[in-house]
Amino acid sequence: MALIRNLDAEDIGFIASRVANRLRYEAEQNPLINPLFDADAFESALFGAREGTWVCDEGSLTGHIYGAVLQGASEQSGVWIGPDGVSFDSPSDLKELYEVASTEWKSRGAHEVFVWVLNTESSLQPWRDLGFETVHEHGVMKLDALRSRPLANEYVVRLGGPQDLSTALALDDLLEQYQGGDVEASRASREEDLIETIEDPDTSYFIVENDGDPVAHCVSFPLPPRRSSHDETAHLSDVVVLENHRRRGIATALIDEALNHAHQEGARFAEVNWRSTNVQAKAFWLDYGFTSTYVRLQAKLS
Ligand SMILES: CC(C)(COP(=O)(O)OP(=O)(O)OC[C@H]1O[C@@H](n2cnc3c(N)ncnc32)[C@H](O)[C@@H]1OP(=O)(O)O)[C@@H](O)C(=O)NCCC(=O)NCCS
Repeated sequence: MALIRNLDAEDIGFIASRVANRLRYEAEQNPLINPLFDADAFESALFGAREGTWVCDEGSLTGHIYGAVLQGASEQSGVWIGPDGVSFDSPSDLKELYEVASTEWKSRGAHEVFVWVLNTESSLQPWRDLGFETVHEHGVMKLDALRSRPLANEYVVRLGGPQDLSTALALDDLLEQYQGGDVEASRASREEDLIETIEDPDTSYFIVENDGDPVAHCVSFPLPPRRSSHDETAHLSDVVVLENHRRRGIATALIDEALNHAHQEGARFAEVNWRSTNVQAKAFWLDYGFTSTYVRLQAKLS
């Protein structure tokens, strides 16, 4: 039986090398994953998180786990395990680490745990064995063969801005409704997020109109550097087309426009997340040319 204990300062360099090796392995599985790893930044973050990090010690270290306990929109606390927050040699190492860590997270009031995992059967299985289920998928695309497919004549696409907040909110309500959220309860926080997004000079907001009426929108912004993403990556979000305008190529033309714009501003890759239950979004992104790299898994802490 392995000893599960808190991380010591002396362990940090070794854990950083495990994380770097894992990332290299993931990038070999999928070239859309960036293998470059800033070990110094990771080591100083890990030093600050020693108390919330456990290692599996079998004479040598065979795994580690760190989860950030954060309050979610529903006022309930959840635990977020980043892509560099876990490593393990065998599923039994993960199981022992998770048992100790989840007991601590529960005692701190957390109700659920989220983790990003490489989208391969062998990577997902150890988590499924612990009761985790897929909630989101992460898609990446290289921007090397961009297209500009036209909209039907009655539609135009344009860059929006802060003056378009009411349009953005109305379309965001639809997306929330479509995704099964509580539109009224979440409106204030979504409005706050949207204002921040649209007013951010780094963010590009695109609207498709039909005779002056908004029928679709999306947001694109450059991602800050982060593990597993290539530098110069644009993140797409908030993509929605009004129901009675779907399957006419509107989202395709809108994303063409957003990606051409992002490419002109220096992006070489684009990323997007979709809910795993959102069958049409998944079909759309895969058809567009995105590849699923990671999935976000969730488990309840009972
Ligand atoms: C996903 C969504 C944005 C697609 O918009 P759209 O304008 O209908 O997409 P397009 O017409 O450009 O579709 C392009 C291709 O994507 C795929 N696709 C789009 N919708 C699909 C669906 N419902 N089922 C299966 N494939 C679909 C098809 O391959 C389609 O090509 P085809 O129509 O020639 O078969 C739209 O359905 C929508 O707003 N959904 C609700 C909000 C949402 O889920 N947003 C995404 C969040 S990540």
